[in-house]
Amino acid sequence: MNQAARPRDAGLLHMRLPVGAVTSILHRMTGALLIPLVAAVLALLHKALVSARSYDMVRAVLAGSPGHLLGPVCMWIVAHHTYGGIRHLALDAGLVRGRRAARWSAMVVLAAAVCTGLLAAILWP
Ligand code: HEM
Repeated sequence: MNQAARPRDAGLLHMRLPVGAVTSILHRMTGALLIPLVAAVLALLHKALVSARSYDMVRAVLAGSPGHLLGPVCMWIVAHHTYGGIRHLALDAGLVRGRRAARWSAMVVLAAAVCTGLLAAILWP
């Protein structure tokens, strides 16, 4: 094949990925996001325990717009990674077999994580 005829771009951004691939990519992304998220939650917890004043400050941040915006997103991150992780383990253990079951389980993970995020948005104090 001559140089000019060779494909230069696989078009990853325009490719229609199967639902399992989307779930898996999001699982890796949420896993990476969990690392700073755990650090941030621990830092907030530490701050809340320093004094009554800083406890009130942390409460105000969580009850204000930053908490309302970021809280449900964080809950989606935790939920997607946890449900996706359980799916990965179930696939590895052979509890989910075949393409149909793999597709269904991927859709269940996506939907359950979004529902968890929405529930957090509704119930956020
Ligand atoms: C603070 C908690 C967690 C952090 C920071 C974290 C982080 C990560 C990261 C960065 C990866 C990606 C590794 C890679 O693809 O190379 C990963 C993969 C994985 N995580 Fe987590 N994780 C956490 C909690 C969990 C939980 C609660 C579960 C299970 C329910 C879980 C199950 C898995 C599994 C099964 C994989 C491998 C997926 C695969 O085979 O591609 N993780 N995690």
